[in-house]
Amino acid sequence: MKLFTSIFLLLFSLSLVSYAKQETINIIPRPASLIVQKGHFNLTAQTPISISESFDAKFKGYVQEKIKNDLGFTCMIGQGNTSPLVNAIIFEQTNDPSLGDEGYSLVITPSSITGKANTYAGIFNAFQTLRQIIPANALKLKEQQIKLPCLTILDKPRFEWRGLLLDHSRHFQPKEFILKQLDEISAYKVNKFHWHLTDDQGWRVEIKKYPNLIAKGAWRADRRGIHWWSREFAKPDEPKPIGGFYSQDDIKEIVEYARVRNIEIIPEIDLPGHSKALKAAYPYLSCRQDLLFEVSTGGRSPNNTICAGRESTYEFIDGVIEEIAQLFPSKYIHVGGDECNKNDWTVCSECNKRLKENHLGNFEELQSYFITRINHQVTQRGKTMIGWDEIMSGKGTPGAIIMAWRRNRYSPEVDAPRAGYKTIQASYTESYINNHQGPAYLEPEAPRGIIPLKKVYQYEPIPSVLTEKEASLIMGTQVCLWGEFTPNPEISELMLYPRVLANAEVGWTKPELKDWKKFEVAIEDNFKRLERDKINYSKSTYNPLITFVPDTISKTAIVEIKPDIDLYNLRYSVDGTDPTPHSKKYKKAILANFNTDIKAALFTKKGELQGSIVTQRIEVIKKKK
Ligand code: ACM
Ligand code: ZN
Repeated sequence: MKLFTSIFLLLFSLSLVSYAKQETINIIPRPASLIVQKGHFNLTAQTPISISESFDAKFKGYVQEKIKNDLGFTCMIGQGNTSPLVNAIIFEQTNDPSLGDEGYSLVITPSSITGKANTYAGIFNAFQTLRQIIPANALKLKEQQIKLPCLTILDKPRFEWRGLLLDHSRHFQPKEFILKQLDEISAYKVNKFHWHLTDDQGWRVEIKKYPNLIAKGAWRADRRGIHWWSREFAKPDEPKPIGGFYSQDDIKEIVEYARVRNIEIIPEIDLPGHSKALKAAYPYLSCRQDLLFEVSTGGRSPNNTICAGRESTYEFIDGVIEEIAQLFPSKYIHVGGDECNKNDWTVCSECNKRLKENHLGNFEELQSYFITRINHQVTQRGKTMIGWDEIMSGKGTPGAIIMAWRRNRYSPEVDAPRAGYKTIQASYTESYINNHQGPAYLEPEAPRGIIPLKKVYQYEPIPSVLTEKEASLIMGTQVCLWGEFTPNPEISELMLYPRVLANAEVGWTKPELKDWKKFEVAIEDNFKRLERDKINYSKSTYNPLITFVPDTISKTAIVEIKPDIDLYNLRYSVDGTDPTPHSKKYKKAILANFNTDIKAALFTKKGELQGSIVTQRIEVIKKKK
């Protein structure tokens, strides 16, 4: 009995030690395997860092910069490790097929920290994991010695595509903003930046062959202060002060900055729709030679499709693709293909002629003819074309990659891999982070949908109906921040964070290891890192959502209150007073009278309010006739 008791106590205490240590390690995305061991490594300014010469020459400077950023001191960095190093951090190249292209191992013992990877991408990821093992408040503490727990991590991503789309056509953002975001997202192992560079509201990339693209296409009339969807069209003779563009030198700088951070930049030139700015710059690309074109000032953009009939259109695009292919080292060029309005094509003699001569059955097939020709221009330059899921319409575009965005009426997330296309998920209902992330009245202006942090986190990119073979065609997932309602860097960051981090874990971590409860603890820890990096992140996850179903006969409503983050006590009131830590705890749906205010909020165990008090009026709003 005595022996049994002591073994039990030993096991129990061991598990407590291990549990407690694990809890302080909050890595996003969650690694494939992490075992905490006994002991610590002491990291100080005297700790030497050794980096294999085979890794990128710029990694050394990058590591130095981040150690300073995270800890406030610098370490000595050498290259190679000819003599055995003690009390050192070592990053070395290995040849271990199990780690793949982006995987790594990271082992911390009392005498060394060793990261190993086959590739630069892998060692970059190993370093990001190490950065997150360093306590988030290390810089604030100003300690000269940081204790890191001994552990072994073996890690690699679930998907090769873990992306973010930024739309800088609708609102141009400065180069510095982009560099800051690339730096931050790479800390969470996001590896693809899909850059939406052209649309109706502005052409943002310098193409030397066509100077009007930036001279005219990058600028629009000022309609700030008027709702995006109500803005009057621009007049030809009024000033066009709103906009901007990225010069080829800017782009080279951004691409190189991203490369050092293991991020591939995929440019998107959105064709043949979404082309109002392109048509404003070069009106001869239009079917309608009778119309004058100006860059759109807001959402309304009729006649925004370029002519698919004239050969001059294809020649022009070839010139654009030529420069884009040279400017961006990515394997991919995204050519859009979404929401192509075909009205102009139907009345255009050139488009009709093209249709007839190529025995095309309808204008959907004219779109696939157009996209297939652009695909040829892209593949000729050794690149692979990506398009939004509309490029499957008509006769489709064999060999292209589908970015599956539409949902509900459409199911490209299933149809594309079933048709044999490689597919990237960019779900309109789960990953469009231009939507609100909490109760709308507490959010900046945005489309009507609500996509909270938990919803982004819980997204599963592989539809369960796919066979194993079809599932293998899913390359990964990305969140998209469309730019209609992100006029400046501050609001853009508010929409990006923390939802980018949730999607980073969706893309990296196997579903069986994903765990919302652990993620919400990790996200709070990482809020400190976002603060340290001066990121204007959103706290909407703390704002509960109140919804109700009214019954007009009894003049009551069934009210549901849902927290996004589950770490706190959810309390509410029905009498219009602000809830306090002593208000009723919400457990299940409640019945409320019409014309009352339901208020709800989250409180810590100690009674501190987390986030905002949310109010919802229970009333029936009559629809306007
Ligand atoms: C899209 O949202 N039109 C791709
Ligand atoms: Zn035409």
